[in-house]
Amino acid sequence: MLVDTFGRSITYLRISVTDRCNLRCVYCMPPDGVDWQPHPTIMRYEEIAEVVRVAAEHGVREVRLTGGEPLVRKDITELVRLIANTPGVEDVSLTTNALLLENLAGPLAQAGLKRVNVSLDTLDAQKFAHITRGGSFERSWRGILAAEAAGLRPVKINSVAMRGVNDDELAALAGLTLERDWHVRFIELMPVKNQALWGEGFPPPQAAYLSIQEMLKILEPLGLEAVEKTVGSGPAREFRLHGAKGRVGFISPVGEHFCQFCNRLRLTADGNLRPCLLSDVEIPLLDTLRAGGDILPLLQRAVGMKPESHELDQSHAPKGRTMMQIGG
Ligand code: GTP
Ligand code: 5AD
Ligand code: SF4
Repeated sequence: MLVDTFGRSITYLRISVTDRCNLRCVYCMPPDGVDWQPHPTIMRYEEIAEVVRVAAEHGVREVRLTGGEPLVRKDITELVRLIANTPGVEDVSLTTNALLLENLAGPLAQAGLKRVNVSLDTLDAQKFAHITRGGSFERSWRGILAAEAAGLRPVKINSVAMRGVNDDELAALAGLTLERDWHVRFIELMPVKNQALWGEGFPPPQAAYLSIQEMLKILEPLGLEAVEKTVGSGPAREFRLHGAKGRVGFISPVGEHFCQFCNRLRLTADGNLRPCLLSDVEIPLLDTLRAGGDILPLLQRAVGMKPESHELDQSHAPKGRTMMQIGG
């Protein structure tokens, strides 16, 4: 079992499979993109599978693939198959923008994927194109419906809530759960690298930040009832709108630390273990793996380096990688 110095058991591995993305969301990327990592430094599928094998031997039960956008990586279904067939792994999921999901949902489900979390901040096609710098809302929506049809359930929607951007749509987004068993989760804007570069008609991050309390106030008139978490062990606090089929969740990395419940370790696309999303500390793994060395001590070291909690606020941000290089 991988247990950190604060007694937290690490059972959840988040793997960024690529730093590339087919969108450029304003809160995640600078307008001119980032320098992509060169191919040879990106972990191959059999290398990722080996990390999962060792982690699962030591108690990891849930694996989530992230990016950039994980579906832009070639033959991603093959990686899902490898991970889903790893003894000990019980839940394989993926966080995606859904643009490529329409055709991939079926093959992914067949390969053993259990569910998807989809980033969707607005139901307005024009605003979607603005936030994502050119993405198609319709295509994303078709991807979400395809996931549902393929049995990738429950579909979870991630909406980064931003004042002056989509705060007028929180009720409409939450309302999606009335007729569908989706989980719509509102996320506080995190001050990650490059956000200071905002412009393009968007408010600066400090002004756009909406706390979970403010979101709750906006949604209160709809009647929110707190419910127990059933699927996943992520940081969302869950509620149900009166009479709804689905759930509404709130993820509050800034306003309310949920670090005491942290169960996760991260692996970057270029083979570094990252003890905490919001700290720049990393443990390189790839060279040892490629040299045929034992990676268990590295996993143990990374877990041992998990901080008790992060010190994130709107004036302090990790400086190393952008969100899209970490995968959220
Ligand atoms: P499940 O509960 O397994 O469905 O996943 P999840 O909600 O953890 O995953 P998802 O990739 O959908 O992430 C949703 C949001 O939570 C993103 O904005 C992430 O950046 C944030 N998040 C996920 N894990 C952590 C974490 O360890 N720390 C912090 N601060 N935020 C996290
Ligand atoms: N603040 C909050 N959430 C973010 N995400 C990406 N960048 C940020 C940010 N700066 C979210 C995306 C995605 C999830 C993995 O992380 O919406 O759903
Ligand atoms: Fe865990 Fe770090 Fe996230 Fe806190 S910020 S929940 S310690 S990964």
